[in-house]
Amino acid sequence: MASRLCLFGLLMLSISLVLASDQSPLQDFCVADTKGQVSLNGFTCKDPKLVEANDFFFSGLHLAGNTSNAVGSRVTPVTVTQLPGLNTLGISIVRIDYAPWGINPPHTHPRATEILTVIDGSLEVGFVTSNPENRLITKVLQKGDVFVFPVGLIHFQRNGGYGNTVAIAALSSQNPGVITIANALFGSKPDIAGDILVKAFQLDKNVVTYLQSKF
Ligand SMILES: *[C@@H]1O[C@H](CO)[C@@H](O)[C@H](O)[C@H]1NC(C)=O
Repeated sequence: MASRLCLFGLLMLSISLVLASDQSPLQDFCVADTKGQVSLNGFTCKDPKLVEANDFFFSGLHLAGNTSNAVGSRVTPVTVTQLPGLNTLGISIVRIDYAPWGINPPHTHPRATEILTVIDGSLEVGFVTSNPENRLITKVLQKGDVFVFPVGLIHFQRNGGYGNTVAIAALSSQNPGVITIANALFGSKPDIAGDILVKAFQLDKNVVTYLQSKF
């Protein structure tokens, strides 16, 4: 009985490991052939003989992103799209710039855990646990502090300082994906029916119409 339980535990562990992040590579590398004709999970591999150092290279994270927008922040991504050598490796990185009081609005990465470190300035961060608790876990970070956002959970950041803030975040997927909550719900194309959003958010119809016009 104990060994059967143990076997079951191992099985569940291996299943959760498989589901927890991108698949493990089966070769040294598989540089994305972004023009590949075969449709699969990720990209097909460029001929290894044609691979060069630049396939594993990206330059530009020393540059500040443009934060002149409604939320006052900018994410500069380095995922498989910008760095084809990331294909099959289950990892990526971003730079995030925040103007004073700028926010990175509530969003989720369907395929990645995110570990963020503040390079300059200060940052209020938070995430919300799943139902039914929906507990808010939040903290103020200073330069050099590190915080992790568990995979799939809704999270956000706000520059609470008086100067600019810069953060670098690594994510456990070559293609983490981003779902910005407000944009997905009030800015979908075509619109989600207004009466669905009225009931879901317990809002007046005019407020829903207004929000749909904003996003
Ligand atoms: C930043 O973005 C704003 C709004 O799109 C634009 O007007 C401005 O020229 C940009 N600044 C730079 C330095 O690119």
